[in-house]
Amino acid sequence: MYGVDVALARWLVSEAARPHLERAAQEADPSSLAAATRLRRDLSGDQAAAVLDQVALRSRAHAKLGESAERLFFTRDGLEQATRWAVARWRADRLRRAGAVELTEAAAGLGIDALAGLEAGLTVRAIERDPVTAVLAQANLGPGATVLTGSAETLVDPAELCARPDQALFCDPSRRTARGRSWEVADLSPSWAQLAAWLDQATGPVVYKLAPGLPHRLLPAGVQAVWVSHDGDLVETGLWRGPDWPVDRRLAVRLPQGETVAAGPPTPPAGPLGRWLWEPDPAVIRSGALGAVAESLEAHPVADQIAYLTGSADRRSPFATRFEILEVLPARTKQVRAWAAAAGVGALEIKQRGLDLDPAQWRKQLKLKGSAQASLICAPSPSGPLALVTRRD
Ligand SMILES: C[S@@+](CC[C@H](N)C(=O)[O-])C[C@H]1O[C@@H](n2cnc3c(N)ncnc32)[C@H](O)[C@@H]1O
Repeated sequence: MYGVDVALARWLVSEAARPHLERAAQEADPSSLAAATRLRRDLSGDQAAAVLDQVALRSRAHAKLGESAERLFFTRDGLEQATRWAVARWRADRLRRAGAVELTEAAAGLGIDALAGLEAGLTVRAIERDPVTAVLAQANLGPGATVLTGSAETLVDPAELCARPDQALFCDPSRRTARGRSWEVADLSPSWAQLAAWLDQATGPVVYKLAPGLPHRLLPAGVQAVWVSHDGDLVETGLWRGPDWPVDRRLAVRLPQGETVAAGPPTPPAGPLGRWLWEPDPAVIRSGALGAVAESLEAHPVADQIAYLTGSADRRSPFATRFEILEVLPARTKQVRAWAAAAGVGALEIKQRGLDLDPAQWRKQLKLKGSAQASLICAPSPSGPLALVTRRD
């Protein structure tokens, strides 16, 4: 079992390791014994393992970080916690537009958000308490940024925070405990209390990245709360405080395009099915902006508390995927099986909200056969659970 210590991390980011990383990246199967054996001719067991691990992590990082993953250094945990590149760039640009010149990142991890700050033209100082992660972060950021190793509680200077309106503070606290990933604010590091104290002290922009499931009741007063989705996945709740961001507002932002909608109008009551069914973006649902999107679509929910919208106006929204309702069936196995058999449906996409229905299980029971494809959207309604045969529009 090998572990990366500071000495090994320093070697890994040095010029001495570079040719080995390049060679390992050329291996057809870097996880093979043969690849390890070839590296072991020139390297210690730990060095060879660290090089092969790095190559595997870089290829895994592609989905999150794109091309730049090729030259960055990762740990398994650090990659899991890293912000997606499109989200990090969006945040850094938003900070820059708000007049930030310098960025202090209080819990930098591998420095992905800090790197986006650098690319947006900010001067960056990153703080990371884990010494190995800090070595990799400094390599990722290059000489253009300063990485300080230690705890943010001692390294963030409150006097500087309150003196510099052009200095932004960003913190993406750890949400991990010995039991794994946690969604409790009590498990944050830096702590929730520390985040609140910095909010009090800072005169410049402050941004915190928190879990997307952060309960609304925990939102502090005087911040803008921004739920962000990327490629349809809900990725974070951001708390923003700064001159550019009207406070006590809740927004949904959809990336990569960056469309924004504010929560405000209440969600209308449920009403009859129309020609269309819209599946809202998860950021819209979490932020409470469903009413605003319903208003723009002249739509209403299919049932109270169910986040599918329906209506007949020929409207579109970047915040909702539109389906045309082709047929309305009761959500019962027998009826849906008969419909699927008659229509020759062999591939069925099943979505559901508000019903106790396991799509994978149900698909088996439906005994699908045929070459046609269809999308079934299931939800409660005043007349009982419905299965709507739809076409993605
Ligand atoms: C969620 S990660 C940050 C990821 C980063 N935003 C990125 O995209 O790469 C949080 C990091 O904060 C560090 N950390 C946790 N508590 C800290 C503290 N009190 N002071 C400094 N760093 C801390 C952890 O070691 C971890 O690397």
